[in-house]
Amino acid sequence: MCEMEGNRQSPSEDVSRRSVLKTVGLAGAAAAVSLTVLKGKADAVSETYPQVKIGNIKNLPAGKTLKFDYPLVGRKNILVNFGCSVEGGVGADKGIVAYSSFCTHLGCSVDIDKESGMLICECHQSVYDPKQSGKVLEGPAPNSLPMLSLEVDKNGDIYAVGAAGLIYGMRNNLLDGEEVKK
Ligand code: FES
Repeated sequence: MCEMEGNRQSPSEDVSRRSVLKTVGLAGAAAAVSLTVLKGKADAVSETYPQVKIGNIKNLPAGKTLKFDYPLVGRKNILVNFGCSVEGGVGADKGIVAYSSFCTHLGCSVDIDKESGMLICECHQSVYDPKQSGKVLEGPAPNSLPMLSLEVDKNGDIYAVGAAGLIYGMRNNLLDGEEVKK
């Protein structure tokens, strides 16, 4: 069973159980990826998600997390490296996943619980499973957390390239905001 790496190893990481881990700076990269999303009931429209470099595998050992904005400034997300295969994971061991940090109940912030490896909302304690595509396990949240699409290139650079599901409070994930600096 894939467990949170930080739970298995060194206590030296100096994190509390409901800790917020250090945010690593963002770096950008160019290009764009075309995705098709459904708008309204019937008509499919093409939307373009940016391809944004968010980090490198060498700086994200198992158990580490990384917070970053995507696809627009202020749309906060959390990346987790479990270090072992999880649903939808990328990287050599398929253990890296990323989700919107906005709870699908009322938009409060979710963060990793290092003990359980779950993403938990600070307001009403909805529990999401990041190993199962952000599925809701407990609490009032009506939907899974939106999961980001990630890609890793041959240099180990990790890119966010899309998002599945509507981010809380948004009418469209790509509208009404400023692009993340690349
Ligand atoms: S806002 Fe997250 S459970 Fe209510």
